[in-house]
Amino acid sequence: MAQVGIFGAGWVGLVTGACFAELGHEVVIRDVVPAKIDALKSGAVPFHEADVPELLERNRERLTFTLDVNEIAKCEFLFICVDTPPTHSGDADLSRVWTVIDELPELSGHPIVVMKSTVPVGTGDKVRHGLDVRGLGHVGYASNPEFLAEGNAVRDFMEPDRVVVGAFEEADGAAVAALYAKIDAPIVRADVNSAEMIKLAANAFLMTRISFINEIANVCEATGADVVSVAEGVGLDRRLGPHFLRAGIGYGGSCFPKDSLALKQLASNSGYHFQLLSAVIEVNELQKRRVIGKLQRHLGSLRGKKIALLGLAFKPDTDDMREAPSIVLASRLLAEGAEVRGWDPVADGSVLPRGVEIVDSIEAAVADADAAVIVTEWAQLKTLARPEIRDAMVFPLIVDGRNLLDPDEARANGFAYEGIGRPTVTTDGEPVLAGTR
Ligand code: UGA
Repeated sequence: MAQVGIFGAGWVGLVTGACFAELGHEVVIRDVVPAKIDALKSGAVPFHEADVPELLERNRERLTFTLDVNEIAKCEFLFICVDTPPTHSGDADLSRVWTVIDELPELSGHPIVVMKSTVPVGTGDKVRHGLDVRGLGHVGYASNPEFLAEGNAVRDFMEPDRVVVGAFEEADGAAVAALYAKIDAPIVRADVNSAEMIKLAANAFLMTRISFINEIANVCEATGADVVSVAEGVGLDRRLGPHFLRAGIGYGGSCFPKDSLALKQLASNSGYHFQLLSAVIEVNELQKRRVIGKLQRHLGSLRGKKIALLGLAFKPDTDDMREAPSIVLASRLLAEGAEVRGWDPVADGSVLPRGVEIVDSIEAAVADADAAVIVTEWAQLKTLARPEIRDAMVFPLIVDGRNLLDPDEARANGFAYEGIGRPTVTTDGEPVLAGTR
C-alpha cells in the first residue's frame, strides 16, 4: 500500500483521498484553510456528496488532515487537487497549482507529483520545468485526470469506465496506475499532453451531446415531435448510446461551463477557432433563457407574476450552486418584473440575486404562484402535478425544465404543462406548434 498526499481538501481532493484510503492506502490531505481542516478533523464534511461521510469515517485511521505541508514530505505520491477556476479571459487560472509547486517541501527519494485537477494541455510540461527549476528534478510527474460526476463521485472513482495516466517516464506512469490495482477498469496510458486533452475532450463531447439534444428538442417543439421518444430511439443505436441525451434547460456546474471556456481559449490561444465548441456554449446559454418565453406565452407580461423556481442546485443530489441555471433564470425573471420564490432541499439559495425569496418547502414555493418551474430534477418533485398543488396556485402552469413529469398526467390533473421539446396542446387538446402560437 502506498503513502498518498493530497493538496486541496475540496470536493475532488476529499473524494480522491477518501477513496484511496478505502483502497487501503495511507492518505494525508493538506489544505491551507484552517477552518476546513479543523472541521474535517472533527468529522464534518463541508459538502453534500453521497457515501463520502461514511468513507471518511470508516477509514479514519488511514486519513490525516493537516495544514502542515511538511507532513506530505513522506508521501510517495503528491496529488494536486486544487481548483482551476476561469480567469477573466476564460483561461484556466493555475495560480493555485503554482502555489502548490512553490510550497513543496524538501523531498527525498522519487516521489511523483500527480495532477488530478483539470488543466490546459501543456500544463504538465510547464510544471515539469517548474520542478526542475526548483531543484526537484528527482521528483516524477504524471497526469491522472478525474472523471467524477457530483452526486455519484464515489461510484465513479471505484467503478470508473477507465483510468487515464499520462507520464513523462514509463515507470512513473506504471507506479500511478498501480495505485488503482484493486479497481477493475481499463487503464489508458498516454503521454502527458494527451492525458490532459482526454479530460477536456471528454467533457466537451458530453456538453456537445447536451447542446445537440437541446437543439433537437427546440426543433421538436417547432414541429410537433417529442424529444423524449427521439432520444430513446437515437440512443439505442449502439454507435451513439443513450447517455447525455436528456434535453433540458442546459448544463451548469463547476466543471462543464469552466472547462468548455478553458478549451475554447486554449484552442484560440493556439491560433485555432473551435467553432463547434463555441456553438455548444451559445446553445447552452440560450437554452436557459427559453423558459422565459414559455412563461410569457401562457402568462403574457411577467410583471408582478409570482414564479416558483423548484430545485436550485445545478443538478440533483448535490448542493452545488456553481453556474446553476437557476441563477440565470432568477435574474431574467427579476428583470422581467416577476416575484421569484426559490426552493431546494439542500442547496443554499442565498447566492441567487437579491430579491429572490427562499422558502423551505415546495408547498410554500407554489402558494399563490402563477407558475412553477422545475429547474432541477429532484426526486421530491416527481409528484408535483397533484391536485393540492394545482389548487394552491393562482394559475396552475408547470414549466418542466427537466422533463421530469408525465405530461398527460399533469394535464389530466388540471395543469397547463410545458416540457422541453415535447408536444404542447391547447386547453381543448389540439396540438400547438411553437411557431403558430
Ligand atoms: C461532469 C462530468 O460528468 C464528469 O465526468 C467530470 O469529471 C466532471 O464534470 C468534471 O469535469 O469534474 P458534473 O459536472 O458533476 O460532472 O455533472 P454531470 O452529471 O455531468 O452534469 C453536468 C450538467 O449537465 C448538469 O447541469 C446536468 O443537468 C446536465 N445534463 C447532463 C443535461 O442537461 N442532460 C444530460 O443528459 C446530462
